[in-house]
Amino acid sequence: MGMRRLRKTPALRDMIRETCVTPHDLIYPMFVEEDIDSPLPINSMPGVSRIPEKNLEAEIKAIKADDINAIMLFGVSHNKDATGSDTWKGDGLLARMIKRAKDAVPEMVVISDTCFCEYTDHGHCGVIDGDHVHNDLTIANLCKQSVNAARAGADIIAPSAMMDGQITAIRKALDEAGFDDLPIMAYASKFASNFYGPFREAAGSTLKGDRKTYQIDPMNGREALREAILDEAEGADMLMVKPGLPYLDILAKVRQQSLLPLAVYQVSGEYAMIKHAAAVGALNEKAVVAETLGAFKRAGADLILTYFARDFARV
Ligand code: PBG
Repeated sequence: MGMRRLRKTPALRDMIRETCVTPHDLIYPMFVEEDIDSPLPINSMPGVSRIPEKNLEAEIKAIKADDINAIMLFGVSHNKDATGSDTWKGDGLLARMIKRAKDAVPEMVVISDTCFCEYTDHGHCGVIDGDHVHNDLTIANLCKQSVNAARAGADIIAPSAMMDGQITAIRKALDEAGFDDLPIMAYASKFASNFYGPFREAAGSTLKGDRKTYQIDPMNGREALREAILDEAEGADMLMVKPGLPYLDILAKVRQQSLLPLAVYQVSGEYAMIKHAAAVGALNEKAVVAETLGAFKRAGADLILTYFARDFARV
């Protein structure tokens, strides 16, 4: 007997446990819709709803009461256009929801997903030019959106549009606007994943087609590392790998490559798989969720974005 000596009792197993997840490792992503009266359940994500903008204060307080300290905000816009211009307006949905969240619970860490797909009428993450998304025109708008989010009170800017050079440009724009103390969490290694399926319903995205000209091919590991290295060199304060479970190899490699805080996003499709499997009795939801969150930390994540955050914290 060798390995089993330390597995004999719960107390011994507890003593030698290498990985531990706490609610403060978690970031809760939420969908906020303008001009609706009651929460709108998302069919493909049982347990997740779009929150009416007017309920935001109460919702943020309830999240805080669950011991969750950080949220990622996604707006569901009724004012979409070709460029997503609502995102850089001082009275647009993005600015309003950040303000309301910060007013409700000032110590809540409010992270602003910095992208356009929920605000463009075509559903792409930027400005369309012919048959592709124009890199630099999109970057100019990302800078305007970032400064708008900063002015509204966001604590972290999280660019997720996957434009080349976006971190350098946003850093410069924030610095010039007087927000040199505002951190950037880069969606660095973001794959063109089919696991985002339910998010499209959740965020009301109108996308036809795919994002393969700006997000990473799921078959490419080295390229994902290059993205992380580049974003760090451009001045990112934190890195992210997304999705989570199918990309633990990338997470572990980015962990070895960088000393920055590292986040992972357990995306909508990962959430849906566990929820639907648990609903038919195939999995024990609580146990499986704890195992997946533990796996992220074991692989090297410091922070986990997950729709299970509140459920996990309430256990
Ligand atoms: C882009 C964005 C997406 C997600 C988070 N930010 C969608 C996409 O890139 O297509 C997906 C998150 C999830 O699936 O849970 N703004």
